Amino acid sequence: MTGINPWAVLVAEVRGEFAGNVFVLYCGWEADLYRLAVLERFRKLGVATKLLEAAETKLREIGVLEYALFAEVENQSLIDFYLKRGFNRVPKPYSIMWKSLR
Ligand SMILES: CC(C)(COP(=O)(O)OP(=O)(O)OC[C@H]1O[C@@H](n2cnc3c(N)ncnc32)[C@H](O)[C@@H]1OP(=O)(O)O)[C@@H](O)C(=O)NCCC(=O)NCCS
Repeated sequence: MTGINPWAVLVAEVRGEFAGNVFVLYCGWEADLYRLAVLERFRKLGVATKLLEAAETKLREIGVLEYALFAEVENQSLIDFYLKRGFNRVPKPYSIMWKSLR
């Protein structure tokens, strides 16, 4: 993963303390975002927004024109967070598929 994009894990710090992270997976033809997460005590400060902006800057630099992420349908506040930041919802153009390995 880090061989293709060495910035695959972006970390945010607030006053030198770890505050949050996001994983940006790029395999050469498709990009996905995972694990955008901010420690509770650093939330509502704009940390996640800055992490998203940093991820998008990196993706644009390598010519990526779109990327995707998963948000659970029950988590409406998270979906709202992403909608406000320009994300679109399925079903088109993708069909999300999953399989249980239990
Ligand atoms: C979702 C999550 C990443 C958001 O992190 P965050 O750092 O709090 O996000 P931001 O601060 O950038 O934005 C959150 C809200 O705070 C607001 N905000 C930003 N700076 C602010 C400030 N100085 N004062 C008050 N509010 C502020 C933002 O406007 C935003 O509100 P909006 O969505 O209505 O515009 C965080 O809640 C989290 O880690 N959740 C659990 C993990 C999770 O579900 N991750 C998603 C995986 S896909």
